[in-house]
Amino acid sequence: MSNPSYILGIETSCDETACALVDAQGRIAANEVASQVDLHAQFGGVVPEVASRCHVEVCLPLIETMIERSGIGWDEVSGVAVTWGPGLIGCLLMGLETAKALAWSKNKPLYAVHHLDAHLFAPYLTPNLENAAHLLVEDGKENFVLPNGDDASSRTPEYPHVGLIVSGGHTALVWVRGPGRTELIAQTLDDAVGEAYDKVARVMELGYPGGPVVDRLAAKGDPKRFEFTRPLMKSGRPGFSFSGLKSALARKVEAVTDGNGNSQLGPESPLVWDLCAGFQAAAVDVLVSKSIREAADRESRDLVVAGGVACNSGLRRAMTEAGVSGIRVWFPHPSLCTDNAAMIAGLAWHLEPLDAEAALELNPQASLAFGASV
Ligand code: KG4
Ligand code: ZN
Repeated sequence: MSNPSYILGIETSCDETACALVDAQGRIAANEVASQVDLHAQFGGVVPEVASRCHVEVCLPLIETMIERSGIGWDEVSGVAVTWGPGLIGCLLMGLETAKALAWSKNKPLYAVHHLDAHLFAPYLTPNLENAAHLLVEDGKENFVLPNGDDASSRTPEYPHVGLIVSGGHTALVWVRGPGRTELIAQTLDDAVGEAYDKVARVMELGYPGGPVVDRLAAKGDPKRFEFTRPLMKSGRPGFSFSGLKSALARKVEAVTDGNGNSQLGPESPLVWDLCAGFQAAAVDVLVSKSIREAADRESRDLVVAGGVACNSGLRRAMTEAGVSGIRVWFPHPSLCTDNAAMIAGLAWHLEPLDAEAALELNPQASLAFGASV
């Protein structure tokens, strides 16, 4: 029997340095994420220059340690996959140059992977964590499934389907024809939803990143105390807008501040809990109704929710409570919603590798359209 074979994935598009080894069935053999959150928290957001310097220091040692610990030899690695966009240009460059150098020196083919296509591939991966599974919402019921399970729970989304990408940099509805074969349906006209979460958290003095904190505090608050309009909800158009929602929250915070800096803000404030609950209810309402409408219009049996905000408990609950029959909604395991390299390596198995010359000439792309090729 021949040795199993793995693709090495590398991801450095924002503030996470990540590497992973994934086999052709999407089974994750190793998955390392070195987060820079503590580094950026003092600035209240990602500082691109600081992020790229950190990638330089962390990337290669992280890969070397992972390979050593995994017991997988370079002879079992069939290729190197790397995010080439979209993302912060300096950050992408660090991962890309590392990947090029490794592919060249180890004589392996290089795969250029679209970060957002990779997010959408997450439910086809099998995590290497105990009891980790993807959430599948079907007819208002929650099931936990894995692609390579050995029973009825072994399921994956069918192609084509609608994908909802909700991350710190992007909010978009896409038509997913196959692995890495995507077309944009509509996107946000201004802020990404994760960006809005991070910004409102800053206004309420909740630290960085804001999404997980706002999500946690929203569960304690009353979503009806503060009224937030649902942006573009009734327009009938599939696009999103979150900047108005963010400003509406900032205005409410101003209104309840006493002008002496004594603003009752921070995570212990019941007022903040109610603001979080109101904001989250509005954001989630828009995401759920627009994505379900799109899936229904296109007769898409599956709807895949991907990106960091797919961790959001309010979004998961609202999709379950929507109880739509005929549409199955997929949420990857939270460890595979936020940035990781397993999704990069897993998707690469379905792509063509670059030839040696194209590999050496590959440049990172800060913005990269869906469906773009090298
Ligand atoms: O996909 P991701 O890791 O990075 C990008 O490609 O942008 O997403 C990061 C974003 C951040 O804005 C973070 O605040 C948000 O995902 N996020 C959440 C939650 N967990 C992470 N937003 C809302 N609720 C959460 N539980
Ligand atoms: Zn991402």
